[in-house]
Amino acid sequence: MDPLDRKALLLDEVRKYHHEAQPDRRFVPGVTEIWPSGAVLDEDDRAALAEAALDMRIAAGVSSRRFESAFARRMGRRKAHLTNSGSSANLLSVSALTSHLLEDRRLRPGDEVITVAAGFPTTVNPILQNGLIPVFVDVEIGTYNTTADRVARAIGPRTRAIIIAHALGNPFEAIEIAQLAADHDLFLIEDNCDAVGSRYDGQLTGTFGDLSTVSFYPAHHLTMGEGGCVLTANLALARIVESLRDWGRDCWCEPGESGKCLKRFEYQMGTLPVGYDHKYIFSHVGYNLKATDLQAALGLSQLAKLDEFCAARRRNWRRLRDGLADVPHLVLPEATPRSDPSWFGFVLTIDPEAPFSRAETVDFLESRKIGTRRLFAGNLTRHPAYIGQPQRVVGELTNSDLITDQTFWIGVYPALTDEMIDYVVASIREFVQARG
Ligand SMILES: Cc1ncc(COP(=O)(O)O)c(C=O)c1O
Repeated sequence: MDPLDRKALLLDEVRKYHHEAQPDRRFVPGVTEIWPSGAVLDEDDRAALAEAALDMRIAAGVSSRRFESAFARRMGRRKAHLTNSGSSANLLSVSALTSHLLEDRRLRPGDEVITVAAGFPTTVNPILQNGLIPVFVDVEIGTYNTTADRVARAIGPRTRAIIIAHALGNPFEAIEIAQLAADHDLFLIEDNCDAVGSRYDGQLTGTFGDLSTVSFYPAHHLTMGEGGCVLTANLALARIVESLRDWGRDCWCEPGESGKCLKRFEYQMGTLPVGYDHKYIFSHVGYNLKATDLQAALGLSQLAKLDEFCAARRRNWRRLRDGLADVPHLVLPEATPRSDPSWFGFVLTIDPEAPFSRAETVDFLESRKIGTRRLFAGNLTRHPAYIGQPQRVVGELTNSDLITDQTFWIGVYPALTDEMIDYVVASIREFVQARG
């Protein structure tokens, strides 16, 4: 049989297998797990992965390049660089700001980067990993974002950049914070890992900063299993990100490609001899944070469903919000004014005066197989990893502490059905009524 025909036959079988291997999807209240998040994978995803495997595209290749250009176009940025995680994307973004290619604008050890205290650790870690100093500000309860006012108050003489995540899909005041960055000559990195498809004032998040990052871990809007991306409209920054991602090399040929610059053996850099192979000239102290074509093939197949996924997340969030609107003792989540979030989760804070605790609430929900998660680290400065690290804190971290003590979130991801959401709403109402 012709290998192409055999491949088509195999992929046909993979699609059949996909349907045969589906677990029983009937929802049994209190028995079926209602996950807070998870990958939503269909037969196209399985076939895309199988095809990449059949082609043995085990390193970055054609699908990686296709994904990078499709995703950049989709997100309205000139360049996207695929990485092996969202954390790696954050590491590359902050590290890029320290590049010698930025000359006077480069960040140097001891320079400050403003961030929020309540969030995910790997938004903050690259600041410390680059010898920079995090400046922590508090967030609001309800939006779980900081404000431009808080950021403005934190700017000091050594402040050079801002990195903030759009909290659980809810955009921060991106126009105002980008304006502050422009006024004070600061770089802005948007950690957009939880917010693909969100808009602020009609504009996609991830397009306000110098750089933005995305995660493709299964909990996120699109998944590759593991994976991430750095996006930028700035070609100089893109070049630095690529170099840092690809071992620090100066050459920008794709793996397997050679001589795109047409002068591969004509360079003289550093104290190397003239004509040293440009593929092996290193202009940054880099990493290898690339992803594989298996990941990119899945990413391309997922990308086709992005609108559908974002719409389902919005619908599920709205159903929870409407269903819980009149329940006492709960602080319900609020979209940042002028925003249209593509939600990551539905955040709840238990009023500290409530006649029940967060622990009791979470225990009750988990006993009903309703999965809960914390707003990541809560106040990061209270974790062992950050105590004693160089840092500056501006103002009180009262709300970050409240989040640490009283906040959790539940799921809105696309696989949740109306029946599941209604069960979650009914369970919370029942719990509060019994305790209230
Ligand atoms: C805001 C934020 N930034 C970064 C990350 C890290 O992404 P990854 O798990 O792909 O490393 C996450 C992970 O969930 C996140 O929520």
